[in-house]
Amino acid sequence: MNALGIKDQRQSGADEVLASGEYPLTRRDLSEIAAMIYADAGIYLNETKASLVYSRLSKHIRSLGLSGFREYCELVAAPAGAAARREMLSHLTTNFTRFFRENHHFEHLRDHVLPDLLNRARAGGRVRIWSAASSDGQEPYSIALTVLSMMPNVADYDFKILATDIDPKILAIARTGAYDENALETVSPAMRKQWFTEVEMQGRRKFQVDDRVKRLITYNELNLMAQWPFKGKFDVIFCRNVVIYFDEPTQMKIWQRFAGLLPEGGHLYIGHSERVSGEAKHVFDNIGITTYRYTTKGIGRKA
Ligand SMILES: C[S@@+](CC[C@H](N)C(=O)[O-])C[C@H]1O[C@@H](n2cnc3c(N)ncnc32)[C@H](O)[C@@H]1O
Repeated sequence: MNALGIKDQRQSGADEVLASGEYPLTRRDLSEIAAMIYADAGIYLNETKASLVYSRLSKHIRSLGLSGFREYCELVAAPAGAAARREMLSHLTTNFTRFFRENHHFEHLRDHVLPDLLNRARAGGRVRIWSAASSDGQEPYSIALTVLSMMPNVADYDFKILATDIDPKILAIARTGAYDENALETVSPAMRKQWFTEVEMQGRRKFQVDDRVKRLITYNELNLMAQWPFKGKFDVIFCRNVVIYFDEPTQMKIWQRFAGLLPEGGHLYIGHSERVSGEAKHVFDNIGITTYRYTTKGIGRKA
């Protein structure tokens, strides 16, 4: 096995077909794609993901007019194929999200975290929240809507939400902030009425987030595997349903890096099937469902 859980090509038929339909996807193809996506985004794919890789890429390969996965692998591995390789990332990342997904986090934020942070903002202090894998914006907009429901004039203060994702295509949707009606099912009727406007975009009926909500959020492309350009700390970090795609050592490094970005008492919300692991466990108190508070107070006791 190699680091990606894919059998060494010399020992086991590299040409063995792992998934097929229009084009065969061989073990060698999958191994090369997995190595590239791991290097670029930390996303871990093993042989159990062969059908997923096939279904996400085969249509794209056809649209590029290529003969199959082999030619595609050669294209994305070549220096001239850098743009195609970035495009591959967009196809292989899972962008599923929802307004107020795992709503207990937004309730916790509203009831236990924002009261102090909003008081600090009112007193002239700085407040920063980071949505670290924001997908198409439904997560950061849910944060902003929660904040606005408590303090409609929050934009007058130094209160900002940073939303980042590795996928520029999904960030373009986030910046537009326009969604199909069914995406708004988890938004309360009162919030819909106050903060969304019905619009027509390319012949389709959409609901667009108000500029007063957008104004609180800055969207930037950021790869969690790369260096982070931050100077200051964040009071709250949402990093939900992304590290699940990383392997354990990568996850442990990410938790440590978040610890370095939170002040004493800062909060971290993670996805429903994720857990803080490794050394960072000593500085993150688990205070609720997938909800953590950063503290250095227990280090001696827990070590
Ligand atoms: C399943 S969505 C989660 C969205 C949102 N946080 C939620 O819980 O609803 C995962 C997002 O992580 C992004 N992603 C994957 N690998 C990443 C990386 N290395 N750095 C930053 N974002 C990444 C994907 O583009 C995708 O939009």
